[in-house]
Amino acid sequence: MGNNTALHTIDDLDVKGKRVLLRVDLNVPMQNGTITDTLRIDRILPTVQALSKRGAKVILLSHLDRPKGKVVPGLSLRPLVTPLGEALGQPVGFAGDCVGNAAAGVVAELGESQVALLENLRFHAGEEMNDDAFASALAELGDLYVNDAFSCSHRAHASVERLAKKLPSAAGPVLVCELATLKRMLENPSRPILAIVGGAKISTKLDIINYLIGKVDTLAIVGAMANTFLLAKGHAVGTSLVETTMVEKAQAILAAAEKTGCRLFLPEDAVIATELRENVAVETVPVSVVPEGRMILDAGPETVARLSEAVRASRTLVWNGPLGAFETAPFDAATMAVAKVVAACTREGELLSIGGGGDTVAALHRAGLDEDFSYVSTAGGAFLDWLGGKELPGIAALQHT
Ligand code: 3PG
Repeated sequence: MGNNTALHTIDDLDVKGKRVLLRVDLNVPMQNGTITDTLRIDRILPTVQALSKRGAKVILLSHLDRPKGKVVPGLSLRPLVTPLGEALGQPVGFAGDCVGNAAAGVVAELGESQVALLENLRFHAGEEMNDDAFASALAELGDLYVNDAFSCSHRAHASVERLAKKLPSAAGPVLVCELATLKRMLENPSRPILAIVGGAKISTKLDIINYLIGKVDTLAIVGAMANTFLLAKGHAVGTSLVETTMVEKAQAILAAAEKTGCRLFLPEDAVIATELRENVAVETVPVSVVPEGRMILDAGPETVARLSEAVRASRTLVWNGPLGAFETAPFDAATMAVAKVVAACTREGELLSIGGGGDTVAALHRAGLDEDFSYVSTAGGAFLDWLGGKELPGIAALQHT
C-alpha cells in the first residue's frame, strides 16, 4: 500500500534571514468564526518554531474551506491569528490578501524569526487552477518554499504544486513524518485487514473502494455512501442522501467484492428521522424498512455491534469517514461507539489502527479518542490517494530538483 519518496527536508535549507513560504493546512473546523478543533494547528507548531529558531522569516500559506475563488468574509483566516500566536508564544502578523501589495507589505516588515499568516489562498481562483501567474505572485514573497501540508498534497493547486517548482523547496517535518509513519505501518500489514470507509459520497471514493477490495479482508462501507449501496441492493431509502447516478457503480462493486472474496460490510439497521437537526425525534429500523419521508442519519446498534466484532477480529484497521451525520447530535453515536472499540483494541495491543479524514479525526480528537489510535493522519483525500498508490502532485513537485 502507498508509494515511496525521498525528499529534501528543511535541514537541507539554509533558512537564516530568508523568507520561507510555509504551506500548511489550516483548514480547521470552525463554527461562527470560532475554531472547534485545533489538531491541525497543534501539528504544525514544531515546524514553525524550528524555522523561526533558525532565523527564518516564516510566511504561512493556507486555504480555508472552499470559497471557490471569491472573497468570502466568513472564510477568512484572520480568526486563526490569535490562537496561532498564543500557541506559538509569539505574535503572528496577518496580511488581508495572500498576494499583491498587502502581502508584500507584511512580508517586508518581517524580521528574522518572525511569523506572518497570509489570507485564504482560495480567495483567488488562480490557486485551484494551479495558475502560473498566481504561483509567481506567491513566489515573489519568498526565497524558499516548504510544504508541510500532506493533507493538501493531493491537490494540484498553485501553492502546493506550481509554487514548489518556482523556488528551492523542501518537505516539512510533519509531511515527512506522516509519509514515513503511514509507509512503515502499512507496508506489511498484519491480517485480517479491515477498512472502514464512510462519508457522504461514493463518487469521491470510488477509486479507493475498488483498490481496497483487492487488498483488504473486510471492507465496511458506512455513512451516507452506504445508502447508495442499499439502493443498489433493492432497499428503499426514503429521503436519505443518495447518489442515484452511482447505483450501477455500486452494483459493480458488490459483484467485484464477491469475486475477490473481500467481505463487504454494509449497515443492517439505521437511525432515521424526518430531517437532519439537533435532537430531532429518531427511530431505529432495519435498513430494509426505511419508511417514506424519513432519512438515514446514523448506523443503528446492530450495525455498531457487528462492526465492533469485525474490529475485534482484525489486526489492522484503516478508517476514513464517519458512520453517520456526526457533526449533529445524536448522529455521532455510532462513530463514537466504534471508535471506542478501536481505541480499546489498540490499547490492548491487538490492533494497529490508522484513522484519517479531516472532520472525522477532528471529532475523534475532541472526544480524546485519537490518542489511543496507533496513528491519526490529519489528511482525508490525500491519505486515501496515497493509500491507493496514486502520485500526490504536491509531493511529486518537491522531487523536481
Ligand atoms: C482537507 O481538509 O482534507 C484538506 O484541507 C484539503 O481540503 P479540500 O478537500 O477542500 O481540498
